[in-house]
Amino acid sequence: MSSATHSNIDSILQENRKFEPPAEFSRHAHIKSLEEYEKLYKQAADDPEGFWAEVAKELHWFKPWTKVLEWDAPWAKWFVGAEANLSYNCLDRHVLGGRRHKAAFIWEGEPGDVRTLTYQQLWLEVQKFANVLLDLGIKKGDRVAIYMGMVPELPVAMLACARIGATHSVIFGGFSANALVDRITDQQAVAVITQDGSWRRGNEVKLKVAVDEALEKCPTVKHVVVYKRTASAINMKEGRDHWWHDLMAKAKDHCPAEPLDAEHPLYILYTSGTTGKPKGIVHTTGGYAVGTYYTTKMVFDLKEDDTFWCTADIGWVTGHSYIVYGPLQTGATTVMYEGAPNFPDLDRFWALVAKHKVTVFYTAPTAIRTFMKWGAEYPNRHDMSTLRLLGSVGEPINPEAWMWYRDVIGKDRCPIVDTWWQTETGAIMISPLPGAIATKPGSATKPLPGIIAEVVTRAGEKVPLGSGGFLVIKKPWPSMMRTIYGDPERYKHQYWSDIPGVYFTGDGAREDKDGYFWIMGRVDDVLNVSGHRLSTMEIESALVAHPKVAEAAVVGRPDEMKGQAVSAFVTLESGSKPSPELKEELRAWVAKEIGSMAKPDDIRFTDTLPKTRSGKIMRRLLRELATGGDVKGDTTTLEDFTVIAKLKEDEQ
Ligand code: WTA
Repeated sequence: MSSATHSNIDSILQENRKFEPPAEFSRHAHIKSLEEYEKLYKQAADDPEGFWAEVAKELHWFKPWTKVLEWDAPWAKWFVGAEANLSYNCLDRHVLGGRRHKAAFIWEGEPGDVRTLTYQQLWLEVQKFANVLLDLGIKKGDRVAIYMGMVPELPVAMLACARIGATHSVIFGGFSANALVDRITDQQAVAVITQDGSWRRGNEVKLKVAVDEALEKCPTVKHVVVYKRTASAINMKEGRDHWWHDLMAKAKDHCPAEPLDAEHPLYILYTSGTTGKPKGIVHTTGGYAVGTYYTTKMVFDLKEDDTFWCTADIGWVTGHSYIVYGPLQTGATTVMYEGAPNFPDLDRFWALVAKHKVTVFYTAPTAIRTFMKWGAEYPNRHDMSTLRLLGSVGEPINPEAWMWYRDVIGKDRCPIVDTWWQTETGAIMISPLPGAIATKPGSATKPLPGIIAEVVTRAGEKVPLGSGGFLVIKKPWPSMMRTIYGDPERYKHQYWSDIPGVYFTGDGAREDKDGYFWIMGRVDDVLNVSGHRLSTMEIESALVAHPKVAEAAVVGRPDEMKGQAVSAFVTLESGSKPSPELKEELRAWVAKEIGSMAKPDDIRFTDTLPKTRSGKIMRRLLRELATGGDVKGDTTTLEDFTVIAKLKEDEQ
């Protein structure tokens, strides 16, 4: 169990408040009562394939399936033999069905510029960009990396790839050129779609400059398409780089959606695991469509006149599933915002809610804690009476933040859905259905229909209610990852071998007497820093690559605002001396190797690192030290810890 969550655990163990769904909300909700949820849950548990097939029938298929699921653990195929296209389900299905002039996206740039794209307009843009890709020679099965900020052209690019069957891989705009190289190389991408720059807190994030630097080491990339956003001066490499607007001006309007096998890979999204190498999580067409569609509709209770705003960046899975694929499949109107929450002032999010009349708002605990710190005066400046439902995602939410969210943002009127899921699960797994399930601050409540979750021991035995254990999923579900790109063994080993026969989430959890799940946080070496998933090993590898660093160990420590902060212990090569300047140099180095979100919050120089006899770094000791250890000055001697480590080892 990560120590970062201990304070949270203390407070949630004492938590006994419960909030029933407001009667008026339930009356209009898709699922209206606990009884209705329980009936549906049982029905889905008894016949998962029948249940998911009913959901799938609400979507468009070029060709029906012959079998709902083929399960050769851990290898799943959903909707076997069927053909579908996500872009068709997001666009054509609506436009041809008459939902033409409804806003698909209401986008606001950080400087305040606003663009609205109706379903018909988005459909046209996507078809044109799909033709751009085809004109460049990009074909079905090719991988296309997308490195953009939050502009409407990002979902246009994703949907255009989906339309022709190219597999997209969105790389978060905060990643550095070096991180781009790793991700582009791993998937052998043939093209990169990017933009000159993106606005963030009034500054330009220079995306094209990073792409130029990365591509010196990426020979597979033949084409770069550049969307002009900031109009700053950039280099365009003859023959390789093309302006988005030039290609779009020449592209034809019409591009039919390609019928794709249900198991055709839709996208690869890199996430951090327990080794230094990021994992390319692969999601496919049919199952992902069904999972994101169902959860968006049910968890956010979306109706025709809702305006949904998920504040995530599309570079992470939350944006993929709940800005792009889920909301568009349900035919919703989605708000998309380019910039920072504190630009030009601390009330920017609330100004957006008021201006665009957002009804359902979905954000992360780290953001909520930040808003709490800034104070209620900022939301109170705005009329947010259109809000009817609030959501949380990405990390455990402490009850205090939950209550603040409920009181100050929701005015005690809006239910809160605390949604637990992962890049790997593709869609929400454990969450209240807001019209049906009473909420408890800090609990993600119950698994959704079709999801069989359990808290177990290492041996896979269910722990008694109220006890902590490992969170596992016992049956396959449609939006589950299919593999790790290029590394099926790692998929099998990492997720399906630790605890026999079930999917191991990497999270610790507890189930209470009411069957509510309380997620405690990661039990592996994955960090969750401000909702960003980072690998301790990846940061260690970055540090060790610095010429002055001999060894490095990275652990998480609790942080009131970020959830977890990054603590690094570093031993230096002989001849190098610890200094505050070197600390800064190493922080900047990590930002360059990975991205600024991975910068260690603190760096401690030490003569040795505590290790087991087999040479494994004893992270638990370091975590204790990082959390409250009595450490002074620039150098720490960990010899005492080494001794403790040895003693502990002898005990076993
Ligand atoms: C954590 C983000 C508690 C968890 C969608 C998980 C949460 C990891 C919650 C996945 C939640 C996500 N309560 N913890 N509601 N949601 N997590 O892949 O540790 O970026 O394993 O997916 O975030 O992070 P990822």
